[in-house]
Amino acid sequence: MFRVCNVSEIKENSLNKFTIEKKDILVGKRNGKLFACDDSCPHRGASLHKGIYKGNNVVCYMHGYEFDVVTGKLTNMKSWKKSDTWIEQNQAWRESGNLIMYEIEIKQNEVYVKIPSNQ
Ligand code: FES
Repeated sequence: MFRVCNVSEIKENSLNKFTIEKKDILVGKRNGKLFACDDSCPHRGASLHKGIYKGNNVVCYMHGYEFDVVTGKLTNMKSWKKSDTWIEQNQAWRESGNLIMYEIEIKQNEVYVKIPSNQ
């Protein structure tokens, strides 16, 4: 496990980026619960900490895909309806996996995460 920060640094409804072992991770707090995941959007790699919350989801600022921060699941994909202002994207481009979630632990007011290079 890697130490990330003091627990008081993670505010309710915040999305915080930390770099640990050269990996960008996102640590947030929603509904009083801390979570950690890869900061890279599973769709096309945008920084998820620049997104916003909507319910239990983090909404990526880039194309609006939504991921549940508890389960990590992709829960909502933007509708890519053709319009005059939007170039239709192909199916492969639209595809996205789920969030890569990391185990998180609080010990003596410090936040720790387990990331793959540490397993
Ligand atoms: S990069 Fe996040 S929704 Fe496309």
